[in-house]
Amino acid sequence: MKKRLLNLFNVFGTFAIAIALFAFVVPQDQKAGAAWNVPANYKSMKSTKATPETEKVGKLLYAKHCKSCHGGVGEGDGPKAASMKTKMTSFKDAKFQAQSDGVVYYQSFVGRDEMPNFEKKILDEEDRWAIVHYMRTLK
Ligand code: HEC
Repeated sequence: MKKRLLNLFNVFGTFAIAIALFAFVVPQDQKAGAAWNVPANYKSMKSTKATPETEKVGKLLYAKHCKSCHGGVGEGDGPKAASMKTKMTSFKDAKFQAQSDGVVYYQSFVGRDEMPNFEKKILDEEDRWAIVHYMRTLK
């Protein structure tokens, strides 16, 4: 009798551990993105001048194209974020903001893997820089 009870405890114990592990493992399933390999011609790109106007335009374009994944203020928590295999960096992160304009441009419009390519969706060079200008206001 005692032995059976112990067995029962073991079964429940195993289940409890499995459930606890599952709860922790599933949300952490996303891997952090590796370092970006940005070509030299992008790295050296110079941004156009940011003005309150370009930042405003950038904010609208960001809301249209980027917010669904990157979230309202760029923290990587948009509605589509949870279905991504790769974790997004917060645009508020000092390390993200320390990257040059050309690097941010490459990441934003050339992209890689789950980060979509926007070269055919956002054609206007000024619109692209406007988005970068807006992203710079998020720090
Ligand atoms: C379908 C979801 C999705 C959309 C829409 C999207 N992104 Fe991303 N983005 C990602 C993911 C996922 C990553 C991480 C990719 C990696 O590290 O390989 C990423 C990475 C980035 C990065 C590099 C920093 C980081 O988080 O690793 C920048 C900059 C970026 N995106 C800008 C933009 C901009 C600007 C737009 C809109 C024009 C946009 N993204 C739209 C999913 C998205």
